[in-house]
Amino acid sequence: MKWVNDITKLLGIDFPIVQAPMFGVTTPEMVANTANINCLGSLALGDLDAEKSVEAIRKTKRLTSKPFAVNFFAHNIPEITDTLKADYVKAKIFVEQLAKQNNLIITIPELDELKINSYDEQVDAIISENCKIVSFTFGNLDKRSIEKLKSSGTVLIGTCTSVAEAMILEKSGIDIICVQGLEAGGHRGSFALEDIPKIGGLSLLAQVSEAIKIPIIYAGGIYNSKTLLASKTLGASGFQIGSLLLGSAESALADFEKKRLRKVNESEIILTKSFSGRFARGIKNTFINATEQTEFILPYPYQNKLTSELRRVAKYNKNADFVNIWVGQSINEFSGQSTAKIIQNLIEQTECDSR
Ligand SMILES: Cc1cc2nc3c(=O)[nH]c(=O)nc-3n(C[C@H](O)[C@H](O)[C@H](O)COP(=O)(O)O)c2cc1C
Repeated sequence: MKWVNDITKLLGIDFPIVQAPMFGVTTPEMVANTANINCLGSLALGDLDAEKSVEAIRKTKRLTSKPFAVNFFAHNIPEITDTLKADYVKAKIFVEQLAKQNNLIITIPELDELKINSYDEQVDAIISENCKIVSFTFGNLDKRSIEKLKSSGTVLIGTCTSVAEAMILEKSGIDIICVQGLEAGGHRGSFALEDIPKIGGLSLLAQVSEAIKIPIIYAGGIYNSKTLLASKTLGASGFQIGSLLLGSAESALADFEKKRLRKVNESEIILTKSFSGRFARGIKNTFINATEQTEFILPYPYQNKLTSELRRVAKYNKNADFVNIWVGQSINEFSGQSTAKIIQNLIEQTECDSR
């Protein structure tokens, strides 16, 4: 297998394998582990403010001198309307009562106490920290941010979940498209439709690769050489792996979460809006079952903020029924080896299978 291609050349790496950005799971150690074996590590900054973003970037830079990507949520923030205010009150009461019934003591902030960050401040922080590879999800960047990042020499990677989204990203000057299949763990990167596209990863990747000219990274269900090679056949030249790294030594998941993950079966892996207000794929639990039956799910990022304290307290109490454990459809052994070792195994297996 010849690894050198358009993606390795653009990103300055030897192998076009991308450690998926996974906010809440990715650590600077995971990113550095990946970068140090000449693959692309991705530092997930989610919706952190500028100060916390800079802190994470600097910590990663202390661990590696190799290139890595920084990733953030390019989301729109819905306006606070009277309806949202009323819904927030109802949703807050629901979550507080559910927590109390399950012996979790939490205090949820009022709507006007929430700190909602937009990605603008992250863009400035990323430029000032001289990061040259940026990936993003949940939307496209606004024109000004694209111009600012590009004029500072940054390579941009946008996420799509449909052919239409891929074309929007390409048209606006994004350099690389990350095609996210429906199989993928975590949040959908969808942004052009009200609902998420239900097209499977194979069909989506094949069609996007016919519709656009810029290089493609595929994300969703890659967990061994066969899945990697299948996506290569369908037009991907970069291979993004998330769920395969969830149990790794550098993952921020707690031991009780890794244990739960290693017992998961296919019927438990679902798409839900209950934790954040956006569809994400993960393990069904008491919180999801209870919340899915109500009308109390707010739009992102409000639902995400609303459940944040519950998730923090549940994690502290090692209670897997009230934390979000995101995972994709490709169940694997969720190895506890280092990120570097897991990726190296994948590279060796692929070289062997493609001989
Ligand atoms: C726990 C978790 C968190 C994630 N967080 C992010 C994120 O912060 N940014 C992002 O672009 N994608 C995020 N994703 C999606 C991944 O980048 C990637 O698309 C997905 O993991 C690929 O599918 P796989 O899990 O089957 O490998 C997350 C996925 C998981 C499993």
